Amino acid sequence: MNPESEYDLVIVGSGIAGLSFALNVAKAGHRVAIFTKKDKAESNTNYAQGGIAAVTSAGDDLDKHVEDTLDAGDGLCDAAVVEEILKEGPDRIQDLIDLGVSFSSLEDGRISLGKEGGHSKRRVLHVKDITGKAIEEALLAAIAKEGVHLFEHYFAIDLITAKKVRKLGFKVDGEDDRVLGLYLYDGVENEVKTIAAPAVLLATGGAGQTYLYTTNPSIATGDGVAMASRAGLSMMNLEFIQFHPTTFHSLNGDRFLITEAVRGEGAKLLDGNGTPFLKKYHPLADLAPRDVVARAIDREMKRSGAPFVHLDTPAMAVNFPERFPNVNENCLSRGVDPSKNPIPVVPAAHYSCGGIPTQLDCSTELVGLYACGEVACTGLHGANRLASNSLLEAVVLAYRGSQSVDKFLRNEKKNPLRLPEWIDGDVPASDERVVLSHNLDELKRTMWDYVGIVRSTKRLERAQSRIRNLGREINEYYWNAKVDLPLLEVRNLICVSELIVRSALQRKESRGLHYTLDYPDRSSVAENVKVKPLLH
Ligand code: FAD
Ligand code: SIN
Repeated sequence: MNPESEYDLVIVGSGIAGLSFALNVAKAGHRVAIFTKKDKAESNTNYAQGGIAAVTSAGDDLDKHVEDTLDAGDGLCDAAVVEEILKEGPDRIQDLIDLGVSFSSLEDGRISLGKEGGHSKRRVLHVKDITGKAIEEALLAAIAKEGVHLFEHYFAIDLITAKKVRKLGFKVDGEDDRVLGLYLYDGVENEVKTIAAPAVLLATGGAGQTYLYTTNPSIATGDGVAMASRAGLSMMNLEFIQFHPTTFHSLNGDRFLITEAVRGEGAKLLDGNGTPFLKKYHPLADLAPRDVVARAIDREMKRSGAPFVHLDTPAMAVNFPERFPNVNENCLSRGVDPSKNPIPVVPAAHYSCGGIPTQLDCSTELVGLYACGEVACTGLHGANRLASNSLLEAVVLAYRGSQSVDKFLRNEKKNPLRLPEWIDGDVPASDERVVLSHNLDELKRTMWDYVGIVRSTKRLERAQSRIRNLGREINEYYWNAKVDLPLLEVRNLICVSELIVRSALQRKESRGLHYTLDYPDRSSVAENVKVKPLLH
């Protein structure tokens, strides 16, 4: 396999969105390459626990799933998009089953359905509490059989667009802007490669690493959003960062997820006196939508001064190690046996509801550029994603998007283009390398302290001025240095954080995951916020 061969579609990212998309486009006969920045399975997908939501039982129906999604989204979902995506859920679940994903079943053979916050019915298919790993493995096996080329340790730096190339004096047919390829840093050879392709899919996942405490693995640095913004696209609703209510509280800052399905099986959150407290905040109590539960925990912790609340797992009626083997093992390794002791939990940054605005066929405003999965903003999640709708969105839209890319590629003239080669900063960076680790620490703490569960204009402005300083420093460093992975990630994290803060400042109301003390009420008009591109 040669990364510089000719490909029809180049995909960045090997989570559920990138892999599903690749599989479908390769099946249609196109040459597909996936580039991924670390090991092939390293993705948010691989850590998904609770499962994938879809209507698959007689007692449930599409209208209820739609209604739960709209309720969780707090008035900002696009109702037509919600209906379109959710109605295709059962078919795409069947595709996963056909690929060999073996969802947990009951003794009578029926699929076992879990429940999570905001769902009025049991409708979450799962493979115990390792659903994401099971899906990732099945998809990796399937793309290998389909002849998709997958390159590990390649970091997509930036998109190459017609507009940028013309500015450099190269000739490109027509006058419009479109994607022509991208620059990729090869982490093994330690050099940048230029890849031309008529179509590029960004499937780079979320941006949890912008925060000090997160459920996300190290890959989640918002690279796709940063790249698309630098390519001239506006981003949508980035202020809606979902904080998962329950992650294991450990002193070293590691935040292992305790799946919401644990509450779905009956566990309650307890305050410092051992009393359940969620009823005070929402009629659905412990199974209220995530924004409500995370804010309630935050308020209880601030009120009592305690560094965590407890999840009462010993009181549950299920055999914990059997139903939640992954959570059980991780709690044991951190010194807590969930069958005997309540788990100490705190919220942590979990999911980006906003992102690159995309249509239902994954197309973006830039011709040839597609986005799918957590990096995209389709209108499904609105101001707060309903649990387990993310994996579902990725498979449904990868299916639809791949049909659209197939059509696009059939109409494309495949003239090989000469693209400008990458030029590294040719003088050594003037600052010492400690700038990178220092700026990263400062960024994550700033985002956690000032752009967290409860915001205010003053906090956001404080964050903005600090992040702008970090941005100036990192850009000066970047343009004078030879690139490598830490530099590229820190640059993107700072870029995405600046966009998140700008988006948050533009929203003059509290809605869903964006709660600000200065505008505590929901505005009567539900509007998406778009932030203009950052062009440095
Ligand atoms: P990812 O799976 O994150 O994949 C992104 C890929 O892009 C990775 O391969 C990464 O290495 C690569 N990449 C990123 N940047 C670059 C770059 N610059 N160059 C090259 N490669 C790059 N959702 C649910 O619906 N149900 C659940 O039960 C659930 N549980 C979750 C549990 C945890 C702990 C977490 C963190 C999330 C969970 N979510 C869940 C959310 C869900 O897992 C993610 O939203 C979803 O997996 C995102 O899929 P994706 O393909 O868009 O991105
Ligand atoms: C969980 O298992 O609690 C996470 C589910 C999700 O983020 O959708």
